Amino acid sequence: MPLSVVILAAGQGKRMHSDLPKVLQPLGGGTLLEHVLRTATRLNPAAMYVVYGHGGEQVVNMFKQLPVQWVLQAEQLGTGHALMQALPQIPDEHDVLVLYGDVPMLRQKTLEALVASAQRGELAILTANLSNSTGYGRILRDAAGEVRGVVEEKDATPEQRRLKEASTGPLAAHAASLRGWLKNIGNDNAQKEYYLPDVIGLAVKDGTLVTAILAETEEEVAGVNDRRQLAAAERALRRQSAEALMQRGVTLRDPERIDLRGDLQCGRDVLIDINCIFEGRVRLGNHVRIGPNVLMRDCELGDDTEVFANCVLENAVVGARARIGPFARIRPETLLADEVHIGNFVEVKQSRLGRGTKANHLAYLGDAEIGKQVNVGAGTITCNYDGVNKHRTVIGDDAFIGSNSSLVAPVTVGAGATIGAGSVISKDAPAGELTLERAEQRTVKGWKRPKKQQ
Ligand code: UD1
Ligand code: CA
Repeated sequence: MPLSVVILAAGQGKRMHSDLPKVLQPLGGGTLLEHVLRTATRLNPAAMYVVYGHGGEQVVNMFKQLPVQWVLQAEQLGTGHALMQALPQIPDEHDVLVLYGDVPMLRQKTLEALVASAQRGELAILTANLSNSTGYGRILRDAAGEVRGVVEEKDATPEQRRLKEASTGPLAAHAASLRGWLKNIGNDNAQKEYYLPDVIGLAVKDGTLVTAILAETEEEVAGVNDRRQLAAAERALRRQSAEALMQRGVTLRDPERIDLRGDLQCGRDVLIDINCIFEGRVRLGNHVRIGPNVLMRDCELGDDTEVFANCVLENAVVGARARIGPFARIRPETLLADEVHIGNFVEVKQSRLGRGTKANHLAYLGDAEIGKQVNVGAGTITCNYDGVNKHRTVIGDDAFIGSNSSLVAPVTVGAGATIGAGSVISKDAPAGELTLERAEQRTVKGWKRPKKQQ
């Protein structure tokens, strides 16, 4: 039967104390809801519904491009009520998988097991034996060990609260069955809400087989209601991605101290030192080495390139055998060819540097087109901004830019040109010649330093 997935995401998330709707809280470079949507998509459902409410427009706008049907729950009257808003749109013969927008770490395999059980006409629920089940609904079983229902924490007796088996939220059943049960749930409970887990008791009553699938790890089913749980989910995700990287042959100096907030692909024998953050889409070639405290976002690095400590690279493409840092900043739309060296306190923005070019110390290269084997001396600045517009600096192959030069763009330095140290170059410098702009040095003979007056 076709599958419909419904994701409940209308809650405000009071326990977050945030202006952001809970399902838009950040996790692993995305948002909570993004993780749930991604896993749901892998099930190839016929349709996906997201029930939204709090921060409505913000939530819808963020996922506009996804094939999702948005269902407004204007008033948040509970998870059962939330599902009721989506059900009228789902044909009777569909299997329905209900997910909670704040349970982001579920694995595809687990969800497939829930769906398979629903396809057999059962009500499938996901439970977990938690070391600390505070806040979760507790599974009630009879003497024979059969599931009888769920009691929410706030409605539970002290004895029930001691139960370790928790209801983790997700469930699956035929659309027609859910429709029937939901008609009969009430809100006579501690929170005056229509609880979705109440369908479990109703299913038991009408003789539907309730299958409790026990989650393999606590991590997978963790709900995110407050900042502590958000941090715990982030930590778990971090550990998972670090383990996956090591499995694929990457050396992590400390797998506890790496943050992956996107998609990192590595070649063979890549080494990553501690406290590095990778965001967006990062590609590292074979034998790349990344020093400690490096932040990299949307970058591509060629084979054998090395990034030393404390660098920030963003939206850059770097060739093979390049050396960057320590303390370098590579800003968006920068292309560094093979064997480029960028040293400490060098900032490069929207520039291309040709093969073997070096800027080893203290420089700003912005909007520049720099050829091969150029030597950029310490303190060189491209003055690319006249206060209104940006202009380009062009430097030919083999040029030598003396230290502390200002290149006032638009300006061209020809191939093989030499610029004398300390020059302010505001006119084009011809190829192969020495150009300098500097007051002549003089010595005042016999000059004496003033003496302290008595
Ligand atoms: C819920 C379950 C609890 C389970 C726990 C697992 C209920 C009543 N309780 O509790 O049994 O152990 O999850 O994490 O279902 N939502 C709506 N509309 C609403 C209310 C909630 O869309 O009117 C959404 C929220 O945005 C959230 C999800 O449903 O994504 C769960 O709501 P939440 O208030 O966090 O429920 P819990 O107290 O965690
Ligand atoms: Ca929750």
